[in-house]
Amino acid sequence: MRISKSLKKMAEVAVKDLEDARIVSLGSGSAVAAFVKALSEYVKQHKINISVIPSSIQIQLIAERANLNICSYHLIPFIDLAVDGADQIDNQFRMIKGGGGALLKEKVLLSSAKRRIILADESKFTKLLNKPVPIEVHPFARASVEKSLKLMGSMPRLRVREKDYPFITDNGNIILDTDFGEIPNPKELELKIKALPGVMEVGIFTCKIDRVYKVYTSGYVERIDVRS
Ligand code: A5P
Repeated sequence: MRISKSLKKMAEVAVKDLEDARIVSLGSGSAVAAFVKALSEYVKQHKINISVIPSSIQIQLIAERANLNICSYHLIPFIDLAVDGADQIDNQFRMIKGGGGALLKEKVLLSSAKRRIILADESKFTKLLNKPVPIEVHPFARASVEKSLKLMGSMPRLRVREKDYPFITDNGNIILDTDFGEIPNPKELELKIKALPGVMEVGIFTCKIDRVYKVYTSGYVERIDVRS
């Protein structure tokens, strides 16, 4: 099945999981984009009042086009449900995120929500995290953070767009995609990187996830309830 079709199928299953959530935060990326469309249909059909808080301009634009009600940041402490995607998920449901550069707001939203759901296709699942970790850095600290990361034995690479223009996040920062090889202890590494002056956020996510929807290339959607 084509990926867009399987993401749509997964979103249609996941949207039934709203329960009594009324404030829903949205991560970024294609899985969440599919969820936004399913949510918009669901809201129309069931005539319920849902407000969303987007993690990026990308997903905000999609939510606006879907006519969802977007609410203000002061409601972040009252998020009932966070829905997000992932770039990689290990066998203990720890994640690498930030492929779209939205990691800072995604982490704020996920950490504030009462319930957290992750949507991902089967290619994202791995035993140990091993993808380069997106690290959002204030531009002033680029060289000092790069030096500290190299001293930690990793390989930071400035994320660039076409013609080598630096990628700038919605928050005006740069991203260092940093290769640490396999990451057996994500929490320890997350805290170590976060402690470097000038690091705004780290794309290692170790907060507790409640439920994961995993879609296979066949189109089968698996619901995984994560034990605490
Ligand atoms: C955005 O910065 C990321 O954290 C996304 O959650 C991630 O890139 C997932 O995107 P897809 O759903 O498009 O794979």
